[in-house]
Amino acid sequence: MSNLVIVGAQWGDEGKGKLVDLLSKDMDFIVRFQGGNNAGHTVIAGGEQYILHLIPSGILHPGKVCLIGNGVVLDPTVFCQEMDTLAAKGVDVSPARLKISYKTHIIMPYHKALDIAREKAKSDANRIGTTGRGIGPCYEDRVCRTGIRAADLCEPDILRRKIELALPEKNALLAMYGKPCLDANAVFDEVMASGSRLIAHLTDVTSEIMDGAAAGKNIMFEGAQGVHLDVDHGTYPFVTSSNTVASNAAAGCGVPASMLDRVMGIVKAYTTRVGTGPFPTELFDETGKHLQQCGAEVGATTGRVRRCGWLDAVLLRETVRLCGLTEIAFTKLDVLTGLDTIKIATAYEYKGKQYLYPPQMHNALAQAVPVYEALPGWSTPLRHINKWEDLPAPVQTYVRRIEELVGVPVTIVSVGPDREETFSRKSGD
Ligand code: IMP
Repeated sequence: MSNLVIVGAQWGDEGKGKLVDLLSKDMDFIVRFQGGNNAGHTVIAGGEQYILHLIPSGILHPGKVCLIGNGVVLDPTVFCQEMDTLAAKGVDVSPARLKISYKTHIIMPYHKALDIAREKAKSDANRIGTTGRGIGPCYEDRVCRTGIRAADLCEPDILRRKIELALPEKNALLAMYGKPCLDANAVFDEVMASGSRLIAHLTDVTSEIMDGAAAGKNIMFEGAQGVHLDVDHGTYPFVTSSNTVASNAAAGCGVPASMLDRVMGIVKAYTTRVGTGPFPTELFDETGKHLQQCGAEVGATTGRVRRCGWLDAVLLRETVRLCGLTEIAFTKLDVLTGLDTIKIATAYEYKGKQYLYPPQMHNALAQAVPVYEALPGWSTPLRHINKWEDLPAPVQTYVRRIEELVGVPVTIVSVGPDREETFSRKSGD
């Protein structure tokens, strides 16, 4: 038995959905432990494209059990829409294989309204560029101990009372932003229209996982977003509102940290970011355009064009130490085809000093200047290649150099969006 945590090693959109889908075949349980429908995992299976925001992509594998942990914030309307879309395509989304923790927090209509209103009210420089899905305001209520949890959906009177208690403050804020106030009955009806369908899926996730582990089941903990969007360790305040680091897999579904055996970081062969915030290796030239266009770098959730830049080994080193990565899946290598030179940021210069890890002083990342190393590019298309030894020498050199710089082996290589365009790399290759 071996449990695996999957994290995005950069700012999200590294290709986690595809890897989770691929690795699901060796797993019995797939568990989401943080984030909500701000995530967008694209999976192409059997020629069909699926974009999943909330339901673990393991659902596409018959027989696997998918769990949503207490650390997730769940929008019932989105969850039901996603279930219905999957069911229409013949995917089994019955409560026997799709389960939600009683402790999961529910994204309420006022969370979404506040997320959008606050972002709109901010100046361009201060705007985070949130996905507008109510993620931050829902996590705020969790910490403030005024949140609505999935268990409350089973108790209509308690739910109604909690909404009535929450609304005066929410409405005062909405009024301050010039937005219409919400009515408690309307909020209750909206939530229960989908929320009532969640009830059959509710369970004690800790027991499910612990019982599964005792029976020898393999468990995969599926992270969302990326490590540098972590609310504590990311580029604060331009981050999401949850801990995206691997250790949160334990707290986010209620299991001991000793259960996390392996941690795989998904690393894109270059760097992207959506929303605002510092990005030391960002490119504003033709190379940036190449990465954006060849990599189809458009957000799966918001449709926003992603900012693109060179691979940043400083950020990756930080991910390695924050998460204890044991292995790396290296994705989207095919996108680099056609570039004469490929650069890697190996360190930063900041106020006359070199840094191997991100400097933590106020606003330092916005002023850090990358120190680059240049490697030769390649012109061979890679998508047909399915063995390490068939990769052109400059591709192998690039991958090996990343391993050297961050000290973690690359065990999986992905050269295209399809399930089939991925292969394992044996140790010694
Ligand atoms: P929020 O999570 O909607 O509050 O957004 C906070 C920041 O995280 C914004 O910059 C978003 O663009 C970014 N973000 C949230 N989810 C994702 C994701 O799944 N991939 C990449 N960026 C994300």
